[in-house]
Amino acid sequence: MVFGLSPFGSTSSLPATLLAVIAIFGCVPAAVRAADLDSVLAGQTNLTTFRELVKDHPDIFAKLPTGVTVAAPNDNAFDKLGNFDEWRDNKTHVEAVLKYHVMPKVVSMPSIIKGDSIWAPTLLTDPAYSLIKGGQRLILTKQPGGEVVFTSGFANRGTVIVEDVAWDKGLVQVIDSVMRIPEGLESTARNAYHDMTAFLGALFAADLYDELIVPTKDITIFAPTNAAFQKLASTLSAFPKEELKSILRYHVVPGEVSQIWELQNSSSLATAEKNQSIHILRHTNFIFANSAQVLQTDILIANGAVHLIDNVLNPRSNATRPDVEATSQKPVFSVVGTETGTGTAVPTPFTEHLPCTVSCPVTEVVQTPTTGTPTRSVVRGGGNPTSTNGGVKCTGVVGVGMGVVMGAAGWVGL
Ligand SMILES: *[C@@H]1O[C@H](CO)[C@@H](O)[C@H](O)[C@H]1NC(C)=O
Ligand SMILES: *[C@@H]1O[C@H](CO)[C@@H](O)[C@H](O)[C@H]1NC(C)=O
Ligand SMILES: *[C@@H]1O[C@H](CO)[C@@H](O)[C@H](O)[C@H]1NC(C)=O
Ligand SMILES: *[C@@H]1O[C@H](CO)[C@@H](O)[C@H](O)[C@H]1NC(C)=O
Ligand SMILES: *[C@@H]1O[C@H](CO)[C@@H](O)[C@H](O)[C@H]1NC(C)=O
Repeated sequence: MVFGLSPFGSTSSLPATLLAVIAIFGCVPAAVRAADLDSVLAGQTNLTTFRELVKDHPDIFAKLPTGVTVAAPNDNAFDKLGNFDEWRDNKTHVEAVLKYHVMPKVVSMPSIIKGDSIWAPTLLTDPAYSLIKGGQRLILTKQPGGEVVFTSGFANRGTVIVEDVAWDKGLVQVIDSVMRIPEGLESTARNAYHDMTAFLGALFAADLYDELIVPTKDITIFAPTNAAFQKLASTLSAFPKEELKSILRYHVVPGEVSQIWELQNSSSLATAEKNQSIHILRHTNFIFANSAQVLQTDILIANGAVHLIDNVLNPRSNATRPDVEATSQKPVFSVVGTETGTGTAVPTPFTEHLPCTVSCPVTEVVQTPTTGTPTRSVVRGGGNPTSTNGGVKCTGVVGVGMGVVMGAAGWVGL
């Protein structure tokens, strides 16, 4: 699998970058004097904090090989953290964050094509933070206006405000946010992408979260939205646990982290459900997994990436293809009973299976409004996290894996 490395190739090697600088300013090579990182950072305004951090961590910055790109958050970015002093005290964490800001390639911002997203591996390879081969990734997206946005975990983003500052080992890109290390699916769904809480709850209900999601390296997950689960709430709850497991495993592609736009039309992805693959179909600017439309792409998690889809996939209906002209696709299950519909007034299925956290409320909260009419748009590079709490409700069984509540309300037919 290609990791979207194309812009890292010949077009953006350091000599090319320097030549471009020379070409623009008409300097002779001797004038493009290499400078060490500290003096280059000192030459920029509002990089005081980052410069101090670089000085404090010679283990990371003093020995960098030639050919790297450093994303340097400005002072305002660190101010936005709110609790900088506390943050700085956690040395292990700070080191990991700093490594997440260094890409072992020269990535020149002008070399990225407008509208394109590239995945840039970083020096963060410590398995405590990155269960992804080649190092945890940042996503670099060039907006239609030409500015480049870096996306990190939890959809935390920073815009490049000073680009391609040359130093002797490569480039510095000044950004206006501190990049956030991607965390696990659970944390990502609970804290940022609330539209996957039904899927998360279903994984807990089927005992697959700890068994499949946590330990798998290099994972790609197709996560149906809460609305997709709402459309099938009673149908899915009527399935025996083994059947639910099989359905959920069919949403997980182990061993490959697929940047969605790298996937070829009509390619297939082998899933964690034995001998079952997902078929990828591309149509104009849309991309479908079987008949489900991908709504939001490239949400970074510790061990891979998640793509949000608008339908629950069915391994027993693996040949279903979309009606590409339709605004939404039919469920691929025979719906039993009466489904309650989607939206605010309706509970989010499976969220009662989420383990309680410290702040677990005992009260039931339902989902706040989502966009009513299905739209034909797709959000790239993780997009915006949903701002609702996604109907998270808890059983009150603090700290216990949800397997123990199987048979509780909603688990008809077990
Ligand atoms: C530096 O930060 C100050 C205060 O946030 C701001 O007013 C100023 O515009 C910044 N300068 C640059 C060049 O970004
Ligand atoms: C430091 O940060 C890590 C997360 O990167 C966290 O797991 C750990 O508990 C933190 N340590 C302290 C002492 O806060
Ligand atoms: C998967 O396919 C292989 C052959 O490709 C076959 O031997 C095996 O029985 C199949 N497994 C299942 C669960 O169908
Ligand atoms: C679809 O399912 C059938 C029956 O289980 C299986 O034989 C076939 O290989 C599957 N196709 C794909 C593309 O996974
Ligand atoms: C993708 O492949 C299907 C046939 O499998 C074809 O109908 C469709 O036009 C192709 N899409 C693109 C964007 O080439």
